[in-house]
Amino acid sequence: MDGNGRWATAHGLPRFEGHRRGVEAVRRTVRAAAELGIEALTLYSFSSENWTRPAAEIGELMSLLKRFVRSDLRKLHADNVRVRIIGEGHPTDDEVESLFREAETLTRANTGLVLSVAFNYGARNEIARAAQQLARDVAEGRLSPEAITPDLLAARLDTADLPSLDLVIRTSGEQRLSNFLLWQAAYAELVFLPVLWPDFDRSWFESALTEYGRRERRFGGVDNRRR
Ligand code: IPE
Ligand code: MG
Repeated sequence: MDGNGRWATAHGLPRFEGHRRGVEAVRRTVRAAAELGIEALTLYSFSSENWTRPAAEIGELMSLLKRFVRSDLRKLHADNVRVRIIGEGHPTDDEVESLFREAETLTRANTGLVLSVAFNYGARNEIARAAQQLARDVAEGRLSPEAITPDLLAARLDTADLPSLDLVIRTSGEQRLSNFLLWQAAYAELVFLPVLWPDFDRSWFESALTEYGRRERRFGGVDNRRR
């Protein structure tokens, strides 16, 4: 979800207003994903690198996040959405942490859209944490180094219980992953859209899905139709 700041600047507004409008785009996107029958949606809400932003902007993002959970959790639950958090969580803000736990606990048994919120998330950190777990198992004699396979490592990632990643959408025209789901994106399709996140809506979502449908996924093999 990129481009909140540029959206605000383009409208002569403070960055905060871009983030505030970005929350509305989140609402639209979650609704659209559920309506379109998407199984799982993961939103990159705050990266482990975002802590380098000015304290005032971080404070604004945290208060928007808290306000969003407080205002929308009941509705998400009523819509059968299962909320989960990936990443390292907030290191100091207990209020954020307790809202996350409340969201996960309340929606745990829901069977609709799986909505993962990546917060204080960085893919390299996620992979390193998975490696630490495996190393601990080896050190304590529960696992032999030779038994470590990609599947075994994937099972220790934050996304272990999610279906495999099919599509990554980045808004605002930047064409990079910025430490998002690096392992999981090995065979995902990447779609980069010029739209700034606050303007993202169902029709942009559908255009990304249409583009996804046009791609030929081969997973390193050959085109089935030409074989
Ligand atoms: C995305 O918009 C919001 C977050 C990452 C929290 P940006 O704040 O990155 O907006 P730009 O890139 O400055 O336009
Ligand atoms: Mg940005």
